[in-house]
Amino acid sequence: MKTVLSGIQPSGLLTIGNYIGAIKNFVELQNEYNCYFMVVDLHAITVAQDPAALREASESVAALYLAAGLDPSKANIFLQSHVPQHAELGWIMTTLASMGELERMTQFKDKSAGKENVGAGLFVYPALMAADILMYNADVVPVGDDQKQHLELTRDLAARFNHRFGEFFTLPEPYIPEVGARIMSLDDGTKKMSKSNPNTGSYIALLDPPSVIRKKISRATTDSGREVQYDPANKPEVSNLMTIYSQFSGLSLAEVADKFEGQMYGTFKKDLAEVVVAGLEPLQQRYQEIRQTGEVRDILRQGAQNAQAAAEKILTGVKDKMGFLPKGF
Ligand code: TYM
Repeated sequence: MKTVLSGIQPSGLLTIGNYIGAIKNFVELQNEYNCYFMVVDLHAITVAQDPAALREASESVAALYLAAGLDPSKANIFLQSHVPQHAELGWIMTTLASMGELERMTQFKDKSAGKENVGAGLFVYPALMAADILMYNADVVPVGDDQKQHLELTRDLAARFNHRFGEFFTLPEPYIPEVGARIMSLDDGTKKMSKSNPNTGSYIALLDPPSVIRKKISRATTDSGREVQYDPANKPEVSNLMTIYSQFSGLSLAEVADKFEGQMYGTFKKDLAEVVVAGLEPLQQRYQEIRQTGEVRDILRQGAQNAQAAAEKILTGVKDKMGFLPKGF
């Protein structure tokens, strides 16, 4: 059976971008693959973190995985820091990656732009991500469009390792949805919707209450035209809202366009808000239940145990190929 792996950082509130670009696909893939879904807390510390916020966000993201439909009897759900092999293989990947490669990562360029103090962790972050993926020899990695470059680097590092030390790693394939791989910000249709945007009106968080969702959608920027038409190059904002509509309603983009033909943006936005509110309601309800039962702790413990057993096997193989002496040699 093929293996799937992905992860989400516990930094800030998850948005409908994370849901559409990633989590929704995790839920579909869990039925057919051997799955590992992580909360990547080691990645979250590459920018300044408040310890209490990190604790809360780590448990919250795991609970959101479950609330969205991930099933611990089908997928291994765990915290990255509970499987210390990630840090170890991360270091090894850092030694395989070149400075030039890491400097070319657009996410690093974006996150470090204009900052005086850029942590080295932010720079080597993609090497840790490569370790996450290669740790289970994942075949398929479901991610949004912004992670594509990191996936390419992962493939390069895997190929480099295989070339230097002998065939070992599988080259992973990205799984990027055709529609919804890049949900845009509500205040600017040319920017990605992001949980770290200080303007909270720019994103819809998965746990936003209905009144907040309605307000954010009614205030979302739209172009000066009138037609509800899918045209990302010329009408990025409306096209983005149509994508969100399509993802929450199950209608295709053409069906959304037909449905709102001849109607005003205001009518479309009102309907969109109701579709999103109704789509998130079951997830929000399950989330509250899950947080109350505290079941997530046992699930994370079990997930980490399973993941660690698999990770240890790969890491032992890697170290052997590279020339590390085993204990008690
Ligand atoms: P992160 O935490 O920024 O985002 C988690 C996932 O959500 C997707 N995503 C989006 N998709 C569509 N539209 C958006 N606006 C949007 N915003 C975010 C991301 O593409 C991602 O799939 N480096 C990763 C975490 C990571 C990882 C891994 C992923 C660490 N190790 C191993 C896959 C495999 C990150 O920062 O994602």
